[in-house]
Order: sequence, then C-alpha cells, then structure tokens
Amino acid sequence: MLVRYSAFLCVGLFRGALAALYNNTAGLVKLEYDFVIHLAGTAGNVIANRLSANHNVSVLLVEAGVNDTGISELQIPLLAARNAFFDPSLLWNYNTTSQTALNGRVISYQRGRLLGGCSSINLMYYTRGSRDDFNRFANVTGDSGWSWSSIFPYMLKVENFTAPVDHHDTSGQFDPSLHGDRGPLLPTLPGFPSPLDQRLLATTEEDSGRFPFNLDMNSGDTIGIGWVQSTSGNGVRSSSATAYLHPILDRPNLDLLVDTQATRVLQTGSRHGIPILRGVELANGVSGPRVTVHARHEVILSAGAVNTPQLLLLSGIGNRHDLAALGIPALVHSPGVGQNLQDHPLLSSSWSVNANDTLDAGSRNATLYGELLEQWDTSRTGPLVDTGGNLIAWLRLPSVFSGSEDPSAGPTSAHVELIPSNEWNSFSGEPMPESGSYVSVVTGVISPASRGSVTLSSANPFDPPAIDPGLFTNDLDVAVMVEAIRTSYALLATGPWKDLAARPYGLLADATTDAGLAQYVRNSTTSFWHPTGTAKMGTATDDTAVLDSKLRVKGAEGLRVVDASVFPFITASHPQAPIYAIAERAADLILSQLYEQVGEH
Ligand SMILES: Cc1cc2nc3c(=O)[nH]c(=O)nc-3n(C[C@H](O)[C@H](O)[C@H](O)COP(=O)(O)OP(=O)(O)OC[C@H]3O[C@@H](n4cnc5c(N)ncnc54)[C@H](O)[C@@H]3O)c2cc1C
Ligand SMILES: *[C@@H]1O[C@H](CO)[C@@H](O)[C@H](O)[C@H]1NC(C)=O
Ligand SMILES: *[C@@H]1O[C@H](CO)[C@@H](O)[C@H](O)[C@H]1NC(C)=O
Ligand SMILES: *[C@@H]1O[C@H](CO)[C@@H](O)[C@H](O)[C@H]1NC(C)=O
Ligand SMILES: *[C@@H]1O[C@H](CO)[C@@H](O)[C@H](O)[C@H]1NC(C)=O
Ligand SMILES: *[C@@H]1O[C@H](CO)[C@@H](O)[C@H](O)[C@H]1NC(C)=O
Ligand SMILES: *[C@@H]1O[C@H](CO)[C@@H](O)[C@H](O)[C@H]1NC(C)=O
Ligand SMILES: *[C@@H]1O[C@H](CO)[C@@H](O)[C@H](O)[C@H]1NC(C)=O
Ligand SMILES: *[C@@H]1O[C@H](CO)[C@@H](O)[C@H](O)[C@H]1NC(C)=O
Ligand SMILES: *[C@@H]1O[C@H](CO)[C@@H](O)[C@H](O)[C@H]1NC(C)=O
Repeated sequence: MLVRYSAFLCVGLFRGALAALYNNTAGLVKLEYDFVIHLAGTAGNVIANRLSANHNVSVLLVEAGVNDTGISELQIPLLAARNAFFDPSLLWNYNTTSQTALNGRVISYQRGRLLGGCSSINLMYYTRGSRDDFNRFANVTGDSGWSWSSIFPYMLKVENFTAPVDHHDTSGQFDPSLHGDRGPLLPTLPGFPSPLDQRLLATTEEDSGRFPFNLDMNSGDTIGIGWVQSTSGNGVRSSSATAYLHPILDRPNLDLLVDTQATRVLQTGSRHGIPILRGVELANGVSGPRVTVHARHEVILSAGAVNTPQLLLLSGIGNRHDLAALGIPALVHSPGVGQNLQDHPLLSSSWSVNANDTLDAGSRNATLYGELLEQWDTSRTGPLVDTGGNLIAWLRLPSVFSGSEDPSAGPTSAHVELIPSNEWNSFSGEPMPESGSYVSVVTGVISPASRGSVTLSSANPFDPPAIDPGLFTNDLDVAVMVEAIRTSYALLATGPWKDLAARPYGLLADATTDAGLAQYVRNSTTSFWHPTGTAKMGTATDDTAVLDSKLRVKGAEGLRVVDASVFPFITASHPQAPIYAIAERAADLILSQLYEQVGEH
C-alpha cells in the first residue's frame, strides 16, 4: 500500500538536495505540492516536520514573518518578557477592541510574526493542561482520541527533557517517568536558584492545605505549587522553529517561503456539492501580485487563533450573513468561525519588601547586566537562563463558584495561576520604580467563563482583524481575579515570607476595599497572550463547531486547521504544550488519511 501511495505522490520536481528557501512568491519554481501548510508557527512546523519525514511527500511551508535565525535576544530566556515582544518587526502588533469590562481600555494583543510563530517570542512556560481538560475535549468531540490517556503519548513524543544548566540534583522537582527523551523540543527545569524557591517550598510545608506541593504539574493533575518546566533547555529558547524546522532544512521535499502572507484559501473544485479547497492565494504586500499554489492532498492552516479565523472568513468560510455584509461570497456557512475566543486574563501586582537580594538592583545596573549577558554568552549559565518564577502555583477557588456553574473542566484544572517573581514587574505600562526591592505575583484566571471573538474589520487581508477577547465580560472572572489577589496576600503572609514585611505597591496599595480591588483588576489586567478556540472542533451535529474531531473544516474538502484555534475550551495551562501535542496527533491523523486514500487507488 505504501509503495502504491509513494508512486502516486512521486511527481514533484525536486531541485538540488536542500529545502528551497524563498522570501518572495516571484521565486517559487513550482506551484503544486502534496501539502501546503501555512503557516510556520508553533503547530505548523510540527506538521511540516512529520509529513516531510517521508521524502515522497512534498510540502510548502509559508510564513508571513521573518527568519528567526540570528536574533540573539530571542534566545535568552530572561529577556523574553523584557525585550523580545516589544520589537515590532517580529510581531503583528495587534490591539483589542475597546474592552468594556476593562473600563473601556484597548490592550495590546501581541502575536509572533516570524518562523516559530509565538513559540519564538513566548515566555517558555511549558505546562500541558490537566486530565480533565483533555477528557472534556474527548467528551465534546465524541472522539476518545483526545482524552488524556490517548494524547499523553504525543506529549512524550514532543520532548527531550533536558537537565537544568546548573546540573543541580532534580530529585523531588519533577517525575522523570512522565517525560520524553526522544523528541525535538527541549523542556527543562530552572537552572539558576531564586531566593523565593525556599520560601515557596516552606509555604507548602506550613500550609499544605491551601498551598499543597505538586511534584509534577504536567502529570495530569495540575493543582499545587511546583517547579516550573520551560522550553529553555541548555539555557536557550527551544521553539518550534529551532526544534522542528531548522533541523530539517536539508530535506529536498520541503520548501519554505517567508515574508509572504496567505490572503485566502481558494476553491479548486467540488464533490457532491461540497467545495474542495486546495488552493492558497499568496501575496507580498497589499499591492503585490497574487500567486496561487495548489495542494494535491490538503491545505493545512496553522495561523493561530487570531489569523486562522481571519483567513477562513476571508475565504468565505463563516457566518454567511456577516460575510455578505462585507461582500465576501460564502463557500461554507459556518457560524462558529471566529467565535468562542477564550483567553486568560493576566495581572501583575507588586509588593515592596525588606530584602536586598531581589533582581531589581540588577535591572537598574547596566554594568551588572553586561556581566550577566557575558556569562550567558560564554557558558549559557546564570540568572538569564530562566524566565523568572522558578516555582508557580495552580489553585482551585471553589468558594467563588458557590451558586454558579464552575467553568473549569474538573478537579484537576485550576481556577487561578500564581507566578511569584523576585522583582518588580508590570504588563500594563507602569514605569519601573527608581528604587526599592520588590516581590511580584502574576495572577491569571485560568478557567475563564468569558468569551470573545475575532471578526473581519474589512475584506482586505492586510487590515488587522477586530479582536475582542471579551476579558471579564462574565463577572465571575473578576471575582476569581480578586480572590487570586487575596490569595497572593495570604501567601506573602505565611511564615516563610514574614521577614519581607511585604507592602502593596503602586495602584494595588490604593485598592483597600472589595470594590477598590475590583476596580484595580479592571484597570490593570491585560491578556496572558493565550487566545484559543476560534475554529473549534466538535461533533457533526454541533453547528458551532467549525471542525470535525479530525480537525477537518466541516462542509468542505481538502482543508484542515491545526493550531490553538481548534481547542473547544481553553486548557487550564499555558497553551504551547497542548498545541505541540495536538499537532503531533494531527500529523498522525493526516498521514493515516493519506495512506488510506492512496490505498484506494
Ligand atoms: C508574549 C507571549 C508570551 C507567551 N507565553 C507563553 C508561555 O510562557 N507558555 C505557553 O505555553 N504559551 C505562551 N504563549 C502562547 C503560545 O506561545 C501560543 O499559544 C502558541 O505559540 C500559539 O501557537 P499557534 O500554532 O496556534 O500559533 P502561532 O505560533 O502564532 O503561529 C501562527 C503563525 O502563522 C503566521 N501567520 C499568521 N497569519 C498569516 C498569514 N495570513 N500568512 C502567513 N503567515 C501567517 C504567524 O506569523 C505565525 O508564525 C505566549 C504568547 C505570547 C504572544
Ligand atoms: C518513495 O517512493 C519510492 C518510489 O516509488 C518507493 O520505492 C519508496 O518506498 C517510497 N518511500 C517511502 C518512504 O514511502
Ligand atoms: C530575498 O532573497 C533574495 C534571493 O535569495 C536575496 O537576495 C534578498 O536579499 C532577500 N531579501 C530579504 C529581505 O531577505
Ligand atoms: C535564515 O537565516 C539563516 C542564517 O542567516 C540562513 O542559514 C537560513 O537559510 C535562513 N532561512 C530562511 C528561511 O531564509
Ligand atoms: C496598536 O497600538 C499601538 C500603540 O498605540 C500602535 O502603535 C499600533 O500601530 C497598533 N496596531 C495596529 C495593528 O493598529
Ligand atoms: C460528557 O459531559 C456530559 C455533560 O457534562 C456528561 O453528562 C457526560 O457524562 C460526559 N461524558 C463523558 C463520557 O465524560
Ligand atoms: C536528548 O538530549 C540529550 C542531551 O542533550 C542528547 O544527548 C540526546 O541525543 C537527545 N536525544 C535525542 C533523541 O535527540
Ligand atoms: C542584605 O540583607 C541581609 C539580611 O537582611 C544582611 O545581613 C546583609 O548585610 C545585607 N547585605 C547588604 C549588602 O546590604
Ligand atoms: C553594579 O554592578 C557592578 C558589577 O556587579 C558593581 O560592581 C556595582 O557596585 C553595581 N553598582 C551599583 C550602584 O550597585
Ligand atoms: C480606574 O481608572 C479610572 C480611569 O480610567 C480612574 O478614574 C479610577 O480612579 C481607577 N481606579 C482605580 C482603583 O485604580
């Protein structure tokens, strides 16, 4: 069966021995591939790697953004939050619509625009989500292949779990039996100690009821305080570009086109009245010529939870009434496209502390910073190898939900995440204080009840879409965030923290009442950059589901989506680890369908 399929596919004209790299459609030598994958983001590179491993399968990977190679700031973990995502040339520079529940504020909504997508600019936290998250996926799709036990082997397939750079004894810091050692991605444990580590561990001993210790938050049960795992093996960012793409640029059956935007998917035929969508229109700039490439088998959209629904809508896949209003002919009426946007609200609060070992002095001292950079450069060690926050907390706050429906997937999914860090930080634009020492706690609403949307602002593919994450549109999420701040106060009041005498700093200091805290929350919360769910998978009978459980666009042929858009519910985690695992399963689904089809010939 494989040989017949191979013969059938072996029609590509492969030039030379290496992947062809293009930065303009004008260079493209061929316009037909077995698979056309846009785009080279977190999930897209996984698919490109797994499909092109068969040298008879030709793959074109398209990316709107730039080459990630040689941008050294992106490689340094501690700079992730500080520099990288403020460089507009690596970003889509999106903003939200005015957020009513954030007192009308417009917030920045960054997405990576480079090889590796957001995995090339993110904060590298590597958290898989919970058993209940994936069992809920299985439940709502009617596909047991998404259950925790079915997806777990793909989680292992992703990773080569790497020893921390300082080679400290990691016993009691994770469960090695839950991790892979054969995969391309390099998650690791913190490689430089923080003075907060011992305080947090001591808190889990003093108040294990409220703050239990969790040996490995990637076991399926996320709840408790534990050592964070992050995609920074060997002290360097491990992204989907470095792990899945750079190592395969020697494959002659893979072509890569950067600096080029996909503008829509095109109909190439129909079968039994169902449109076949195996064409992709590409352009370099708004006035550049439009070039169409064809996929013999499938087009795979991996543009992320903002751009995937945008592209589907531009292609005529969406709510036919909304499309008509923009003059876009509807190919597939699919009212769920762009709906169901779920994100995690993020707030950073700081406390002024009696300590002289926070990172604040270093942030203000260019000489010291230069020394740390030099250390990272020569040995990949020192404080720059971590992203800040060696131990983090995932907690349930059931009291908030007495009388209302709990939006979490179940008892292994957290309601809030707390990331304590040993310095002042803010994600809402406040200036850094000129003196003093601080401890900060990032709080996130991890099982949010609110929903938003991505819609078109015009039919021009070069216009940004209208992004409305709907943060806090459900009041329950405000209540959870307020409770998360109270929990942060409670943490800082446990015995091991008492000597710091933490005092609330900045706007937090003025929020002394319940109403004041709720206002502080609405005034200062931003996005955790975790949009998901805008082209969700589901059952055949669920009209709000854009995809079937195999991630194929319902009502069409030849088009699949593999990225954060497919989540039916946001996971109680940072999303990159689940996206990698979902992409690994998707690659298997695509290949098995390919072998089946070819077997029929
Ligand atoms: C600042 C920041 C910090 C984050 N921190 C973490 C973290 O610590 N841990 C974690 O797990 N997650 C984190 N995330 C989220 C996580 O990185 C993303 O959820 C995940 O990488 C998204 O993967 P994706 O494949 O869905 O999309 P992406 O990785 O965004 O990939 C989409 C790709 O498609 C390209 N593209 C889009 N439209 C087009 C078009 N029309 N034509 C051509 N190309 C196009 C984009 O340029 C991009 O390369 C963070 C995100 C950000 C922005
Ligand atoms: C690729 O195609 C050739 C020629 O048809 C065939 O002999 C070979 O087995 C195929 N390889 C794979 C990995 O499918
Ligand atoms: C695009 O590729 C061409 C040919 O390889 C090269 O000369 C040019 O410098 C590249 N442009 C950019 C912006 O990278
Ligand atoms: C990215 O840059 C590196 C180093 O300059 C180069 O080797 C590689 O070919 C480039 N990739 C693309 C897709 O242009
Ligand atoms: C988002 O807002 C910033 C700051 O106001 C602005 O520079 C940027 O151009 C905006 N982005 C878009 C896509 O309009
Ligand atoms: C799926 O969810 C429904 C509604 O919550 C529940 O009644 C049912 O038991 C679940 N099924 C499985 C298999 O978990
Ligand atoms: C995993 O990482 C280790 C240590 O860096 C390395 O020696 C090994 O070759 C890697 N395994 C694979 C399969 O890449
Ligand atoms: C830092 O604080 C500790 C404990 O409060 C104190 O013993 C030490 O002298 C301080 N060091 C400096 C350099 O101020
Ligand atoms: C800045 O750091 C350097 C190098 O560690 C140190 O010698 C110097 O004293 C520091 N300056 C201040 C003002 O703390
Ligand atoms: C919230 O912001 C509004 C203005 O946007 C301001 O009037 C109010 O004082 C702020 N409240 C708090 C608690 O910061």
